[in-house]
Amino acid sequence: MSNIHPEFHRFLNRHDKESLLGQRGIVIWMCGLSGSGKSTIANAAERVLHQQGRFTVILDGDNLRTGLNSDLGFSDSDRLENIRRFAETAKLFVSQGAIVFVSAITPKGELRDLARGILGKDLFEVYIKASYEACEQRDVKGLYAKAAKGEIANFTGKDSGFEAPQDPDLTIDTENSSIEDSAFELLEKIRHRITPPQ
Ligand SMILES: Nc1ncnc2c1ncn2[C@@H]1O[C@H](COP(=O)(O)OP(=O)(O)OP(=O)(O)O)[C@@H](O)[C@H]1O
Ligand SMILES: [Mg+2]
Repeated sequence: MSNIHPEFHRFLNRHDKESLLGQRGIVIWMCGLSGSGKSTIANAAERVLHQQGRFTVILDGDNLRTGLNSDLGFSDSDRLENIRRFAETAKLFVSQGAIVFVSAITPKGELRDLARGILGKDLFEVYIKASYEACEQRDVKGLYAKAAKGEIANFTGKDSGFEAPQDPDLTIDTENSSIEDSAFELLEKIRHRITPPQ
């Protein structure tokens, strides 16, 4: 017989936290090619929500890769572990009532399935859509130029494939909309999901 006796009933639960915050938690998972606009839209949407008095958290690919996930590279198994840690971290925050933005390329169905398995109904999957060519032209971080010269192994969209999501909750085409319109479109879609029942 185990000597460990968890006492979960003593903890404040998610509903307690959400009542305090006056919102409902959600994980807005933004996937798409590097330079498609994930971080830009997450930041724009977060600013609006913050001004509205919402409690938000951003989990951004590069930031996690310099800290929590600094031991991981871009092999298939490391990409899987990267996403597992993103999803588990997002789960901790959403269980405290936060509105969580995840910006991670998440290039394969298998990776998105993993996230959905961990987050279940809290996951709101957004495909930030822009073609390889458009992202290459933006080349925000200079990665596409390096990839073209063969200086980056496993670059997503080039030698490592990107599978577009089959049935995302929302697709935002950033080649044909402004940053403001993209953020507005997202905020409109999640409005009813973050508003507490009256
Ligand atoms: N509708 C739009 N939404 C978002 N970004 C846009 C839009 N239109 C143009 N852009 C531009 O596209 C670029 C997107 O870069 P951003 O860093 O957000 O990409 P990312 O998807 O986070 O890439 P990475 O995976 O490398 O972090 C920015 O330079 C931004 O100004
Ligand atoms: Mg980014």
